[in-house]
Parts: sequence; structure tokens; C-alpha cells
Amino acid sequence: MRVRFMENKELVSQAFAAMKKAYAPYSGYKVGAAILTKSGKVYTGCNIENAAYSPTVCAERTAFFKAVSEGEKEFEKIAVCGGKDGGPEDYFFPCGVCRQVMAEFCEADFSILTAKSPSDYKENTLAQMLPDAFTIK
Ligand code: THU
Repeated sequence: MRVRFMENKELVSQAFAAMKKAYAPYSGYKVGAAILTKSGKVYTGCNIENAAYSPTVCAERTAFFKAVSEGEKEFEKIAVCGGKDGGPEDYFFPCGVCRQVMAEFCEADFSILTAKSPSDYKENTLAQMLPDAFTIK
């Protein structure tokens, strides 16, 4: 679905919906992500774990790779949430690897909504969350 404008709260809600799809039998830690493209499309993702552990993919990268593999290259913002099976108890912050993937595709002012509940989230830019990011450009 394409939208002209999306409220932060709506994107955060989509991250919570995506979190329900997490496949996390090993850690029990479920994560959801929802990215809004500059053209107004939303791509969601969840973490997908694996018995061999290292093939595990984070929710943010699932969402990014879904979007990029559909031809998307321009992103506005991402909402993320996560927690143990019982649900998020605190704000969720993306891991360093996912921040690096964001730096590959996003501008310094890309917005990252780190949520604790669908109505309680913080907003930071990529530059704040990954200062002096490594890029080859
Ligand atoms: N995880 C994410 O999905 N995103 C992050 O940014 C950090 C960690 C997942 C990976 C693993 O399935 C679980 O959370 C526990 O590390």
C-alpha cells in the first residue's frame, strides 16, 4: 500500500504486527520492523533464527532486504520493537550490524523510531545512532 503521509504511530504499529511473526525458538526474543520508503510504501520484517545460529537474520535486515530486492533504494524512516516472548519491556535499539545496513541505503537524517509500545517510542536520526559511519562513496 502506498500512502502520502504516515503517522509515526502507524509505522510503529506495523512493527508490532510484524513482531508477532518472529521465528525465535532459540532466544525467545522477538523483533519487528517496518520501513517507510520515500515513495510511501511500507516493508515489514521479523527476526528469523536458525538452529546453526549464525544464519539468523535480524528483523531490520529482513525488512531492508525485502525492500531492496523489490527495487527500493530510498527510505524515509524505520520503526523497530522487540522483547522476550512476554512482549517489549523497554525501548528497542537496533544492533550495530543493522545500523551499518541502514548506513548503506539511508541518508544521515533517516529517522529511527525505537519503540516500547505502539504509542511510546523515541525518535533518532541515523547520524545520531551511528556517528561517523563507514561508507565507500
Ligand atoms: N535481533 C534483531 O532482530 N534485531 C536487532 O537489532 C538485534 C537482535 C534478533 C536476533 C535474534 O534473533 C534475537 O534478536 C536475539 O539476539
